[in-house]
Amino acid sequence: MTLKLRIVPDPVLRKLADPVKTVDREVSRFMHEMLETMYASAGVGLAAPQVGELKRVIVVDVEEEQNAAKAFMMADPVITWSSEELFTYREGCLSIPGQYAEVTRPKRIKVAYTDVNNQRIEMEAEDLLSTCIQHEVDHLNGVLFVDHVSKLKRDMMLKRVEKAQRLAAEEQQDGKAL
Ligand code: NI
Repeated sequence: MTLKLRIVPDPVLRKLADPVKTVDREVSRFMHEMLETMYASAGVGLAAPQVGELKRVIVVDVEEEQNAAKAFMMADPVITWSSEELFTYREGCLSIPGQYAEVTRPKRIKVAYTDVNNQRIEMEAEDLLSTCIQHEVDHLNGVLFVDHVSKLKRDMMLKRVEKAQRLAAEEQQDGKAL
């Protein structure tokens, strides 16, 4: 089952998500549904607020093969260390469709999280994986990648999405979407 993606300016994307504390069967099932939703949308990361759930849960898979066994499913992720060395990547977001911008973040991080088996783990990540985890952890705090670029550029990107969404809704009403 795939979950419905929330698109800006949905207010749920700006809220603080709550800790899950224990990864029980319900949270584990939710993690798998998030992963399925992410793969179906060709994304490399997804955070629970993006499907309307204010829980501190993220899923990440930056590999091409989309192998769920190798994906990261994280509850209550905490970035415990980040490098001074930086890494710049052209980011996008499933909640801000069609918009991309270069964002600079720490190149390497350590992240502690609770995995799908309710084990607390710490791992290191670098480059795209590091960027993706930082982007998803931002989502849990109501922060979007566009907050890392200039206000001018941010406003432009958000306006473009709103316009595209409005046009799509209008076309649907007119019955043109065949
Ligand atoms: Ni995103």
